[in-house]
Amino acid sequence: MKLTNTDPALRKGWHALCRSAEVSDRPRAFTLLNEPYVVWRSPSGELRVFLDRCPHRLAPLSLGQCEGENLRCGYHGWVFDATGRCVEIPALGPDATLPPTARLSGPFAIHESHGMVFVAPEEPRTAPPSIAAAADDSFLRGDLPVMTTRASAGLLADNFLDMAHFPFVHVGTFGAGEERTVPSYSVERQGFTFSAAYEHLFANREDPGVAAGIRPLLQRRRLTYRYHAPFHLELAIDFLDAGGSNVIGFFLTPETNETVRVYSSLWRNDLEGSRERMDDAVAFEVAVIDEDLVVQSRYAELVLPLDITDEVHTRADRTTVELRRILRDFVTSADD
Ligand code: FES
Ligand SMILES: [Fe+2]
Repeated sequence: MKLTNTDPALRKGWHALCRSAEVSDRPRAFTLLNEPYVVWRSPSGELRVFLDRCPHRLAPLSLGQCEGENLRCGYHGWVFDATGRCVEIPALGPDATLPPTARLSGPFAIHESHGMVFVAPEEPRTAPPSIAAAADDSFLRGDLPVMTTRASAGLLADNFLDMAHFPFVHVGTFGAGEERTVPSYSVERQGFTFSAAYEHLFANREDPGVAAGIRPLLQRRRLTYRYHAPFHLELAIDFLDAGGSNVIGFFLTPETNETVRVYSSLWRNDLEGSRERMDDAVAFEVAVIDEDLVVQSRYAELVLPLDITDEVHTRADRTTVELRRILRDFVTSADD
């Protein structure tokens, strides 16, 4: 059993559709699981998400425009209200009876939190993802540019949870000086989520205390990974010597079988509120992800194996084995 980006079972999950900042009163299209969605915010501030397909001639509604709380299709001008019901067909004149089938279809549920818009195409098997640091005012948020890449969402999730690749893939960023040995750690699963934590030494090149000679370059940090099926990941890095926390949120949107959108944001409470330092941190994280994508974009087959016997695993791979188990359960129980 292998997980493709558009496995139908993934329709029963929450997926990042876009950033809140990408939504305006101009309808905009985003693809998820091979389906186009149109997203906009009405003048009253309500988020609207429907399939980007007019029921008349299936034209993209993202070519249309908002008229108050309604949306007018750009092709023949049909108007749809907030619930997706057609309320005007210009070609029939003002007193026409409108066909009841003239209505937009939408995802099962929409959820907006920590600057992201999430949708569940069908009744979801989990609660929407949440990030604790996002609700904590002591954290500053920095958004990485949205990246669209040829990749498997499952393999990207695997890569995010993988701890043994740092000294090899990330030599240009944080990997030099990283320990090669992965410390022993345990994974705690709860339903379709898990967390795993461990401590290790790393080269803290961002710490001004290193240049000042107050602290050594090699410092202790605790890494706590949290996974939420299908493709929401969080890594909380607690700097045990320099102090502070750096939380990396990683939301993967399976667009098509060949492409994934990568949404990533940082939450940090160790930058004294400095936007400039956050911009540097974001640029550094982009460089880290670029190193990962060199490997991830080169896979010939864009699938994540879900049969444990398909690959060789070691005790250093506990997080990524758990990822496979959870996704396998997610996919097979979605058949119920
Ligand atoms: S396709 Fe939208 S009104 Fe005709
Ligand atoms: Fe990596």
